[in-house]
Amino acid sequence: MKQEILQQFDGYQDVMKEIEAARKFGTDYAGFKGRVAAWIDRYHPARLTLRIGDILEETASTRTLRLVAPDRPLPPFQAGQYLALALRFGQVRTGRPYSISSSPRNTGYYDITVRRVPDGLVSGHLLDHVRVGDALESAGPAGTFVHNPVFHGNALVYIAGGSGIAPFMSMIRETLDCGLDRDILLLYGNRAADDVIFHAELTRLASRFENFRYVPVLEERGALNPPWPCQKGYITRDLLREAVGDLTCRMFYMCGPAALYDFCRRELEALGVPPRRIRQEAYGPPNHISQYPGWPEAVTEDATFRVTVKGSAPIPAHAGETLLTALERGGFAVPSQCRSGECSLCRVRLVSGAVYQPPTVLLRAADRRFGYIHSCAAYPLEDLCVEV
Ligand SMILES: Cc1cc2nc3c(=O)[nH]c(=O)nc-3n(C[C@H](O)[C@H](O)[C@H](O)COP(=O)(O)OP(=O)(O)OC[C@H]3O[C@@H](n4cnc5c(N)ncnc54)[C@H](O)[C@@H]3O)c2cc1C
Ligand code: FES
Repeated sequence: MKQEILQQFDGYQDVMKEIEAARKFGTDYAGFKGRVAAWIDRYHPARLTLRIGDILEETASTRTLRLVAPDRPLPPFQAGQYLALALRFGQVRTGRPYSISSSPRNTGYYDITVRRVPDGLVSGHLLDHVRVGDALESAGPAGTFVHNPVFHGNALVYIAGGSGIAPFMSMIRETLDCGLDRDILLLYGNRAADDVIFHAELTRLASRFENFRYVPVLEERGALNPPWPCQKGYITRDLLREAVGDLTCRMFYMCGPAALYDFCRRELEALGVPPRRIRQEAYGPPNHISQYPGWPEAVTEDATFRVTVKGSAPIPAHAGETLLTALERGGFAVPSQCRSGECSLCRVRLVSGAVYQPPTVLLRAADRRFGYIHSCAAYPLEDLCVEV
């Protein structure tokens, strides 16, 4: 009876045919529910709980923290990427990115190599207070400072300064471990011989592999241990010309303090290297922002302004510190990752007031139009009102 009634409906036969075909040949996606999300989480987790598996002393001011994840597989990463650690100090929630220095081939751990910054909040904590077994929160590996074989070719020059060696160490280890077809020259600048991180491993690798050359560059005189030929002074155009030889078709990568970027980029451009052949990793907020082009002369770095987050009591902020730092100190949780004005995770809307933004900040046109700023790369120039 029911069947007879149903057959009266227009299109009933077609629908039945489709149901039959789906039963015979189709896939029941209900059975897959949650599986895609699980794979996405495996590759790109929003949060990772890592444990310190080991601590390796590198120099008097530098340690490598070996991070493991006892409860889950570690997401894969590309050599050159970083981990954005998330930390809490009392009411202050903050974060810092650290490049992974181990090879992506070691799938059981990530190494991060941390150098002490004088009075640095997080580097001081990681060097003085964390112990084997402690937990650290992080986002999954991120960043675009990676080798692209199609666009970058195989002839690579790495220019590193201080702890800026970390992403290169990952790239060098991967290339040599996996026998990749790449020719690498590393120019590695440091103040003194004792500051050189990974020196013993770099000399060992350079002695063993023909496709890897290592040139340490020291500002001060001093003996390297183990002994290795080194250059004195800075990574100048003369040194680049001599060490690199034919500069055409080489890809130059830079990682280190802002001063190294400014200096070495000028030297490379003077040698005729086009900007498209120079890649640089972000390395956090610049020191002495008031020396950047366009900073208003009338404002000193220690000038203090009031920042009001819509609906809350004002908090103090110095002109010489990023708006993100001031907001975190005021107890606001602002998501962040690169802390260098690139990833746009720390966007806030500037309702009123003026900020200084260094020329390197990567703001989308729509953000400019609608008043959004990257709080990690914005410095208060007057009292501000923002929406977080
Ligand atoms: C993509 C990326 C990767 C990074 N990878 C590494 C890494 O592998 N190893 C590593 O040691 N660091 C790395 N850094 C830097 C790191 O994220 C922190 O900025 C650094 O550890 C300082 O943090 P802090 O909390 O100790 O200092 P803060 O408390 O933030 O700063 C204290 C004072 O030091 C100044 N300052 C901040 N950073 C530096 C700096 N790098 N050099 C000199 N002065 C500074 C500040 O202006 C401030 O006056 C990376 C940064 C980025 C953006
Ligand atoms: S944290 Fe990446 S742009 Fe600010």
